[in-house]
Parts: sequence; structure tokens; C-alpha cells
Amino acid sequence: MELIFATGNQNKVKEFQQELAGKYDVKTLAEIGFTDELPEDQDTIEGNSLQKTQTLYNLIKKDCFGEDTGLEVAALDGEPGVYSARYAGDQKDSEANMDLLLKNLNGKKDRSAQFKTVITLILSDKVYQFEGILKGTIGHCKKGSGGFGYDPVFVLEDGRTLAELTLEEKSTVSHRGKAVRKLIQFLQNDYIYKVE
Ligand code: IMP
Repeated sequence: MELIFATGNQNKVKEFQQELAGKYDVKTLAEIGFTDELPEDQDTIEGNSLQKTQTLYNLIKKDCFGEDTGLEVAALDGEPGVYSARYAGDQKDSEANMDLLLKNLNGKKDRSAQFKTVITLILSDKVYQFEGILKGTIGHCKKGSGGFGYDPVFVLEDGRTLAELTLEEKSTVSHRGKAVRKLIQFLQNDYIYKVE
């Protein structure tokens, strides 16, 4: 079964391939020659996930999925949330985003945070969504060289940051890993009944 993944983010592609390889024929936008930027200007993670995926589906009319992720920090009223990518400006610079986050949390006691991923799947015009959440805290400095985005400041229960995990370890615990396993479970159950 072929599924097109509505993202231009190679880090996300790697994480999805970790889970989906051998099960589904996942094609990236680059592989199908799609170079346009997909819109994401909604005010919720669910809305952005749907907008990206629906836009791609309307253009290519093929089964596809997309996802949107945000970091929600309790002491900042859920920010950066949908603004996670552009928190420190339109250049989408992860280092600058983390620096601003650490600055905004300076002196705050509550450093609890969560990553939230929402995957949208569109199969034959029907829309499905799957959520994955990872709870943790924001550290006081950056640690680790793996992962991407806010991983170096996102601290897990065991004291390691997401950037200190291997790709495999990150997939086991992460928001995106949890959401993608729900997607896989759905596809497996749904397709038991569809003999073609
Ligand atoms: P988007 O889902 O591509 O819009 O990502 C929003 C922002 O969250 C970007 O700044 C990403 O770098 C960041 N982000 C998304 N997923 C992760 C993750 O798994 N770890 C750390 N940062 C992430």
C-alpha cells in the first residue's frame, strides 16, 4: 500500500521510516516531485495537521498522511504551541528558538512541558486523526547532539534529553512514535476487512 507523507522535514521522514519501513510504501514529497510549501496557518495543532494533509490530498488525489507537532509549556500558557517552528522568528532557527524558550522560562519554578503530535490520514476522501503526547520538563541548558528542534532542552523522567537518545529510543517514547503506532494499528485493523 502506497502512502504519501506530507512533509518536507527529513528528520520527521527518518522517524516515520523507523516505524513504517517494511510495512508501507511511504513516499516523501521529494520522491513524488512535489516542491510547493504546504500551508499551516491554523491556530491549533490538529488544524495545521489537517490543513497540510488536506491541501496535499486535494492536489494529488492519492492516499496520504501529514502531521503537525508543537511544544506546549505550562508556565508559558501552552506556548510556543503552534508557533513552535517560528518562536524566535521567521527564519525557523532551532538554536534561537531554544535560547528564547530558556530565556522566557528564566526564574519560573514550573518547567513542565509536553510535545503533542497530531497525524492526519486521508484514505479515499475519509479523514482520520491520531494523537501522541510526550510529557517532560524543559532543562536549564541544551544537552545532547541527536534529534532536532527542541530535543536538546526537552528532559525526560530519567534525566536525559531527547537529544541524548538514539533514533530508535526516541521513537519508542516520543509523541510522534506514539501517534504513528496508532496510525499503524488503525491501518492494520481497517485493512483486515478490505480484501481486494
Ligand atoms: P512542525 O510540526 O514541523 O511545524 O514543527 C514545529 C516545531 O517543533 C519545529 O520547530 C520543530 O523543530 C519542532 N519539533 C517538531 N517535532 C519535534 C521533535 O520531535 N523534537 C523537537 N522538536 C520538534
